[in-house]
Amino acid sequence: MRAGRRALLAAAGASVAGCGARAQPGDAARNPPPGLWQIARERGCTFGAAVQADLLASDPLYAQAYEREAGLLVPEYEGKWAAVQPVEGQFDFRGLDAVVQWGRARGRATRGHCLVWHNAMPDWLTSALGEGRGRAEALLEAHIAAVLTQTRAVIRDWDVVNEAVANPPGSDVPQTTPGEMRDTPWLRALGPTYVDTAFRIARRVDPTLRLTLNDYGVEEDTPAAEEKRRRLLALVRRLIRARVPVDAVGLQAHLQMDKPFNPSLFGTFVRALRAEGVAVLVTELDIREGRQIEDDYPRRDRLVAERAHAFVSAAIDAGVRSFITWGLVDKYSWTVTDKDVRRGDDRHHRGLPLDWEYNRKQMWRAMARAFRGEAPDPDGWFR
Ligand code: G3I
Repeated sequence: MRAGRRALLAAAGASVAGCGARAQPGDAARNPPPGLWQIARERGCTFGAAVQADLLASDPLYAQAYEREAGLLVPEYEGKWAAVQPVEGQFDFRGLDAVVQWGRARGRATRGHCLVWHNAMPDWLTSALGEGRGRAEALLEAHIAAVLTQTRAVIRDWDVVNEAVANPPGSDVPQTTPGEMRDTPWLRALGPTYVDTAFRIARRVDPTLRLTLNDYGVEEDTPAAEEKRRRLLALVRRLIRARVPVDAVGLQAHLQMDKPFNPSLFGTFVRALRAEGVAVLVTELDIREGRQIEDDYPRRDRLVAERAHAFVSAAIDAGVRSFITWGLVDKYSWTVTDKDVRRGDDRHHRGLPLDWEYNRKQMWRAMARAFRGEAPDPDGWFR
């Protein structure tokens, strides 16, 4: 190993958990209070994370990490149509309720995700949406009414429609059919106003809920992201003009190190959304490492932390006050398991606040500093 790298590892290894120095799983010494949610709260922000009910029950270190770090929960899967209505007319709220009750026992709220999406659709629904507009509208109404009626006392905030905007040319997975709305079974069954209909049904079922439109790919400084920002803003403006009850826009923020991030550009977009009268939430933050990856964890984690610090700081400056990471612990991230986004080499993305041993990484410290309004160390590390 070159002397320079040895010195670098020595300099960083002592202060960076999860690598070099053998961290112990969930080591309390490395994860003392306050948790990230408490640090965020001091700045008037909410911090939480997507969670899996099965892991809360089966992995004590996972549960301890969520108890320590997450002030708000969102079910990673348990609130989706495939989990909640796997068979037409047969609802299964056990997974969703497990998340809600775990949170309530600890004074933590749960936000709902998601009522209408083109993924996690049971097969029966996909085929039923092809049976005509009337059938599709009836299914939409029945699902939203059943889910919101069941959960309204404990879930006050829902992603009503997820990923309605088409990916422009130049995106990772560009849409090949014409139009600015994503070509989904919902669009084909009901036309572009399926979004309007979903929000209006939700408002009618319970006028006190916060209703959110959630999407991704609008955070970075690329031509495709710029076009998708334009499309999302145009959709929000159309909905507002049509008096559709959209209370908030969720920006998923699945960030990619291979794409540049421009804080000013992103802040302008957030302010433009807020000028329409909607709140802006960060709903699924995680970070996929670049292809030019470093070999050692300290350098890799610092690159990820730099992006996290820049993004959270820019979002706070633009008025965002709610931040959710899409998981807490690297080893359970979808970016490790999903074939479309996992790394193609023998490594795994390290894009969440806690490492594989449930210990805080530089990303955790970077987010803590952003919440506190603090800069990185002068040498750019997050000790
Ligand atoms: O298939 C089983 C099912 O039989 C079982 O009942 C259920 C409950 O445990 O689990 C199912 O397994 C997988 C599920 O995650 C739970 O781990 C599904 O096969 C798998 O498709 C599902 O993937 C999730 C994906 O959304 C689709 O729902 C990922 O964990 C989740 O991270 C991902 O999250 C999405 C957001 O909702 C929207 N934004 C993008 C984000 C990443 O794709």
